[in-house]
Amino acid sequence: MKSKELTEIALALVAKDGGILAMDESIASCNKLFAKLNIPQTEEYRRAYRQLLITTPGLARFINGAILSDETIHQQTEDHIPFTEILSKAEILVGIKVDLGTIDLPGFPGEKITEGLDGLGERMANYYNMGARFAKWRAVITIGENIPSWGCIEANVHLLARYAAICQEYGIVPMVEPEVLMEGDHSIEKCREVTAKTLYALFNELYKQRVDLRGLILKPNMIVPGVDSPVQKDIETVADFTVNCLLESVPAAVPGITFLSGGQSGKLASQHLNAMHSNFGPLLPWKLSFSYGRALQYPAIEIWGGKKENTEAAQQALLHRASNNSAANRGDYSE
Ligand code: 13P
Repeated sequence: MKSKELTEIALALVAKDGGILAMDESIASCNKLFAKLNIPQTEEYRRAYRQLLITTPGLARFINGAILSDETIHQQTEDHIPFTEILSKAEILVGIKVDLGTIDLPGFPGEKITEGLDGLGERMANYYNMGARFAKWRAVITIGENIPSWGCIEANVHLLARYAAICQEYGIVPMVEPEVLMEGDHSIEKCREVTAKTLYALFNELYKQRVDLRGLILKPNMIVPGVDSPVQKDIETVADFTVNCLLESVPAAVPGITFLSGGQSGKLASQHLNAMHSNFGPLLPWKLSFSYGRALQYPAIEIWGGKKENTEAAQQALLHRASNNSAANRGDYSE
């Protein structure tokens, strides 16, 4: 795969003020969500829910790519049209989550490592043949007493870089996600310090593994205080910390940065993105956009509640959040 083609895909993912819909929850996570909302935890309900999301009329006006899980990429609509075909026809790029989730990192209490590198090349070739053009791998960094450790950061960014190199080898744009979790009572300054450290280590490792920075998308957390921190910050401060942290640590060669929402409400995630664009828009060297899961899917999933008759209302709710984030990408969001 030529690097030019990878760049074109990466740029298409952040084109026209659009963003990415993360709908790649594992079977276990999706079931957990369904259980909370009293939705039956079966393959058919998971399929029906994902069908609802991808068949939302007008979705492609605001969404350039959708990240699927392995189960979802193999699924079809009830009238037997493969989900990949629905997305391609709508000109929404197909993405695939390829990591296999996190486990405890041996020797590092409280820290995680992501699994899934073995046999990844072969899986990548299959996904490419099924229509996937970008992928996702999520590493998790936890802030706590004396953590994160260098050992954890280095192990995770090494895997992210190896994964990214394999993606590019198979013509797939890697979405590189080093998520510094919001859980904890740490300050916004601590989040910034840990995120910057992680990003410096990540780009060093991407360089060492010969990953083409022009052919990837970075999916970071925003810089926010821990959810249990007694000192919460206003929207302008979060935007300011986030943009400055990224300006200091992400090379301008990267075509796009798409944030995860990490547990922020839909509205807050839109407000933060909007403030970054309205305060810093012309200064940004990369396209800044969204790759939200929860901040796009709520309240749509609650409105659906597993009932077919609620499909249209749920789709409207998804479209509402997607259009608001697209407006945030122009700095003209208001709600
Ligand atoms: P959230 O936006 O819900 O954090 O999910 C995004 C994602 O893809 C996490 O890996």
